[in-house]
Amino acid sequence: MTSPVSYERKGSIAVVTADNPPVNALGQAVRQGLVDAVERAAGDDAVKAVVIRCAGRTFFAGADIREFGKPPLDPPLRRVHEVITECPKPVVAAIHGTALGGGFETALACHYRIAVPSAKVGTPEVNLGILPGAGGTQRLPRLVGVENALELVVFGRPVGAKQALAMGAIDEIAKGDLEADAIAYAERLVAEGAPLRKVSDLPIEKTPEVEAAIARYRERIARERRGFFAPQRCIDAVEAAVTLPFEEGMARERELFNECMANPQSRAQRYAFFAEREAGSVPGIGKQTPIREIRAVAVIGAGTMGGGIAMNFADIGLPVTIVEASDEALERGLGVVRRNYESAARKARITAAEVDARMALITGVTDYQAVADADLIIEAVYEDMALKKDIFGTLDAVAKEGAILATNTSTLDVDEIAAVTGRPGDVIGLHFFSPANVMRLLEIVRGAKTTEDVIATAMKMAKKIGKVGVLSGVCYGFIGNRMLDVYAREAELMLLEGATPARIDKALYDFGMAMGPFAMFDLAGVDVAWKTRESHRDRAPKDPSYYHIGDLLAEMGRHGQKVGRGYYKYEEGSRTPIPDPEVEALIRSEAQKLGIEQREVDDTEIVARCLYPMINEGARILEEGIALRPGDIDTVWINGYGFPVYRGGPMFYGGEVGLDKVLAAIETYRERYGERFWTPSPLLEKLAKAGKTFAQWKDV
Ligand code: 3HC
Repeated sequence: MTSPVSYERKGSIAVVTADNPPVNALGQAVRQGLVDAVERAAGDDAVKAVVIRCAGRTFFAGADIREFGKPPLDPPLRRVHEVITECPKPVVAAIHGTALGGGFETALACHYRIAVPSAKVGTPEVNLGILPGAGGTQRLPRLVGVENALELVVFGRPVGAKQALAMGAIDEIAKGDLEADAIAYAERLVAEGAPLRKVSDLPIEKTPEVEAAIARYRERIARERRGFFAPQRCIDAVEAAVTLPFEEGMARERELFNECMANPQSRAQRYAFFAEREAGSVPGIGKQTPIREIRAVAVIGAGTMGGGIAMNFADIGLPVTIVEASDEALERGLGVVRRNYESAARKARITAAEVDARMALITGVTDYQAVADADLIIEAVYEDMALKKDIFGTLDAVAKEGAILATNTSTLDVDEIAAVTGRPGDVIGLHFFSPANVMRLLEIVRGAKTTEDVIATAMKMAKKIGKVGVLSGVCYGFIGNRMLDVYAREAELMLLEGATPARIDKALYDFGMAMGPFAMFDLAGVDVAWKTRESHRDRAPKDPSYYHIGDLLAEMGRHGQKVGRGYYKYEEGSRTPIPDPEVEALIRSEAQKLGIEQREVDDTEIVARCLYPMINEGARILEEGIALRPGDIDTVWINGYGFPVYRGGPMFYGGEVGLDKVLAAIETYRERYGERFWTPSPLLEKLAKAGKTFAQWKDV
């Protein structure tokens, strides 16, 4: 087998090139190839310095994650780094694309680093539930200072070449061709007799400021990375660089790395990484599928959703036309968009010039004729089938041939909407999550007649605007809201059984959810959820307890945060939910009316009662072919509903608990509550009986 690493001498410089598509992950063959090539350069008298570079789209993007959890293969990455660092000739890393994790650590093991201006470097391991395990936590603080190292390692966000240069993570920015510039740089180092700059030998700061920074990061992590196992270990590892000599620090890093690796969170986070990537692939759709070009976008509706959706496209430089019924509504909507951009500018996320440039791309109109040139039209008005049908009738008349007609519905039948047009193949659901300019999830809803090129275009577009696109079939609520319905239904029932909104929210928050269901309803609008239920009363369970409190609160005008009262109360201008004795009294009296006896409901029951029906519903979603795979369901919940990524999503979590246990609990609840909500899905039963998880759902 030929090595993915090639060796070439150009004058007095050995150029070592790795070529392991797609992202030059540092798999075994690459590691061996690097050792061989650098040792060869060391022994080649004609060579005075070495350049390590990568072919293809990026410098090494990290260790090969697919090798994790398998028996280790020689040589380990640390050995590769030893060979590089100990090379008696200067070794220069030539970086393009993204030098991440083990890839960046390889660059840190080199004596010098040069990068193209568009390159990014970083240590994203924490996002996989681990920490840099090949010396990153020991070398980085020596090179860039402890505080910069903490920021990179603990939060895992890569930085661009300019910032990397400023903090000392790289030494040079290439001005032209990277390889030529790297060779010239290496020649200059030789000519100047530059020392072999071993990062491991650099001194490290040991000051009270450093101690204070470490303490500050510990506090920040407890707040900002609640529930995560790895971030605290990242801090421990960087601290070891300060308190221990290099070799001992390396040993401590290894221990902490192994601890993270053995923790279930890392398994869940690695699973989520691959699930998210797999969600982008749809059987039957591939490179051969034509893509429609999107040069101009139109959005129908300038409400919160419409404005947020428009921002996504203006952000990537596409012109967007927003259609509204009146000038006042337009003005209001565009005002909100501008304020969102200005707020981003205040936080230094974009510049003031970018605010104007993006606003200049957005045009408000009240005439549908203005959408005639759009390649993609997204309807984002409120959930009303008659209104949506009316709009799609108009769009059918004015949109140009080949335009994609999308609806941002969260629950309505995309096929029924498509049927009012003469081009149902061009109609698709694009379900954005609020706030649409922030949330990463995009449910792409395939109608019965949606053509493959429309789906392929939507998938590609999702990636372009920085979203995770997940394909769903048509059903009430699609993947996400269909499962939300059963999750919050149980939370509602438990209110009547005696648990307060605050108690239920806390149990689910402690489980790791971004917020509990009642805080979420208050944020999203108690009336919004109620209106959706109203439009689906015909299919809703005929049970008096079904969203009983939610319906009452909506009818009482307790619509949530926006009016200062919902499941909770809120002080003027505050978003902090305060338990409201009035609501608690209402719940008690309604329970009495319905003949439901109140009792103590503990946290374990709260979590099980909310999550197990979701897992069961997820199994049905798979059986019905609404979701393509369990990982898609998990990707939806992690990116759209604040499910903790360190638990892998509801379907993965079910496997961790044990599907037999989930099934047993469902059967117990069935005995207690009857069939109404607790019929196990056949798929769940089969998997549980076979001792399998959803990973093997096709095998039963
Ligand atoms: N190992 C194995 N496969 C990887 C990989 C890795 N480190 N990184 C990416 N891939 C695979 C993806 O699964 C995907 O495979 P597919 O085509 O079969 O679905 C393919 O490479 C392309 O990836 P993306 O679709 O993500 O491509 P993008 O261009 O959108 O993004 C990227 C490229 C920014 C490099 C992104 O893939 C990424 O963030 N990768 C992970 C980087 C990372 O976490 N590195 C640290 C690894 S752990 C480590 O190094 C431990 C060390 O400290 C010891």
